[in-house]
Amino acid sequence: MPMLKEVLRGVLSEEEVRRLYSSFDIIGEIAVIKVPDELLEKKHEIGNAIIRNVKHVRSVYMQVSPVKDAYRVREVECIAGIDDPVTIYKEYGCRFKVNVAKVYFSPRLSTERARISSLVRDDETIVNMFAGVCTFSIIMVKRNPRCKVYSIDINPDAVILCNENARLNRVEDRVHVILGDAGEVIISMLLDTADRVLMPLPEKAREYMPYALMALRTGHDCYIHYFTHIRGNRKEIDRICREEVESIMRNGNYSIDGRNYRYTFNIVGMRIVREVGPRVYQVVADIMVRKWLGELYR
Ligand SMILES: C[S@@+](CC[C@H](N)C(=O)[O-])C[C@H]1O[C@@H](n2cnc3c(N)ncnc32)[C@H](O)[C@@H]1O
Repeated sequence: MPMLKEVLRGVLSEEEVRRLYSSFDIIGEIAVIKVPDELLEKKHEIGNAIIRNVKHVRSVYMQVSPVKDAYRVREVECIAGIDDPVTIYKEYGCRFKVNVAKVYFSPRLSTERARISSLVRDDETIVNMFAGVCTFSIIMVKRNPRCKVYSIDINPDAVILCNENARLNRVEDRVHVILGDAGEVIISMLLDTADRVLMPLPEKAREYMPYALMALRTGHDCYIHYFTHIRGNRKEIDRICREEVESIMRNGNYSIDGRNYRYTFNIVGMRIVREVGPRVYQVVADIMVRKWLGELYR
């Protein structure tokens, strides 16, 4: 990721450069940046400097709200170049159509997408509960030609792009895109189907863990990739995340449709994905789960 400060030296004073945030995202031909309030009057100069200096960038959008609401979309304003928020982003040999004004997308998850894809084994059925534009889903099935994925998202614009992206990457036969709330979709059509469940939405992961468990196949070693936000010193993150997972899953059983399920779990991996604020980290826990039909624990 290019450093915003390097690009802007010469356009802004040293003092102004210091006040700028240190980096920006490049998504295909679009740069998305944050501009601090005190530099807002120079936003167009900043945007034009980026277009002049950063290869392939044709539009610069300024983030004008934090990521918000169920769709996790941020409001953006075009400050330089062509006002067209749709672009093609490339990652690991796949191409993704992204609309930076209508869907959530972060290039900063690319390492995590590659890591989880490398864990997938032949013939897996995967459920991606919060799919966005299908980046995780498509990279996983491209790398593993014998797998299929159910990709759920509640944002209709994300679902349209998911379908387009599946076609763009020629995996529409193995990427099944479903519009709706992940919990409702799992209960209505995906109970007991998945070898692996992805939960790449930290704000909802705790609340939706019961649905992830319901989606897993009975009688097999299955995996849940649980994304969360953890506050604390870097050294404590592992312990705090483990405690969070254990507190959510300790129950060890659930019932649905008159059937009782029991499960055991084991946290087999944990990784800090990125820092999202001062002493706040996005963390992913890889949880192996085995469940079976049985009497409930009391
Ligand atoms: C953080 S984004 C996913 C990012 C994506 N995995 C990636 O790699 O770019 C979370 C997505 O979850 C969707 N979402 C939010 N609440 C949901 C729900 N209850 N059920 C299904 N999808 C939901 C949002 O619309 C958003 O697209």
